[in-house]
Amino acid sequence: MTAYEPFVAPKTSERIAVYPGTFDPITRGHLDIIHRALSLFDRVIVAVGINAAKQPLFSLEERMAMIRDCFPADEKRIEVDAVTGLLVDYAYTKGARAIIRGLRAVSDFDYEFQLALMNRRIEREVETVFLMTGFRWIYISSSIIKDAARHGGDVGGLVPDHVCERLRERFMMPGNG
Ligand code: COA
Repeated sequence: MTAYEPFVAPKTSERIAVYPGTFDPITRGHLDIIHRALSLFDRVIVAVGINAAKQPLFSLEERMAMIRDCFPADEKRIEVDAVTGLLVDYAYTKGARAIIRGLRAVSDFDYEFQLALMNRRIEREVETVFLMTGFRWIYISSSIIKDAARHGGDVGGLVPDHVCERLRERFMMPGNG
């Protein structure tokens, strides 16, 4: 018996990665990760998921539309989809062998480590790949951006312009926020 088990190539030669998240809303930090992932994979599926611990500001459809609007309509390497159920099951059925997660500060590590190990326990054929977020985006999150926008703060530059506009509209409506 050898200590080394040869790598079994996936049936598809296309390298597909799933980049999951709540994306409420998508930020320039997320876009930075997507661009980095595109240099490693042939195709990236941005999977908008449900985190039971979160109450999103934007509906699933709104979040997906804002992500789609970040890319040209003919960008074939990016797909935006909704994910329900287990993320690894979704990745597997999509032919993806990698889940991308962005790492910002050390504070992300515990949670990401837990998530990656649980996902691996459920499905060994799907690996989690961590990409380091660009320095400029290390301290942003969707929550902090929403909080700033809710109180009238300028979030221009941290989110794409159309997302900035959606935040402004959302918080201008009476009864919102
Ligand atoms: N730039 C800016 N912000 C970033 C970022 C980056 N590069 N990387 C992470 N973040 C922020 C996000 O904005 C988000 O901020 P928020 O909490 O203020 O909204 C936070 O970091 C991390 O959240 P996110 O990346 O959206 O993921 P999540 O923790 O909400 O998880 C799923 C969402 C869909 C991946 C997860 O819930 C899931 O896998 N669900 C399916 C069920 C399942 O399989 N569970 C796992 C079984 S163990």
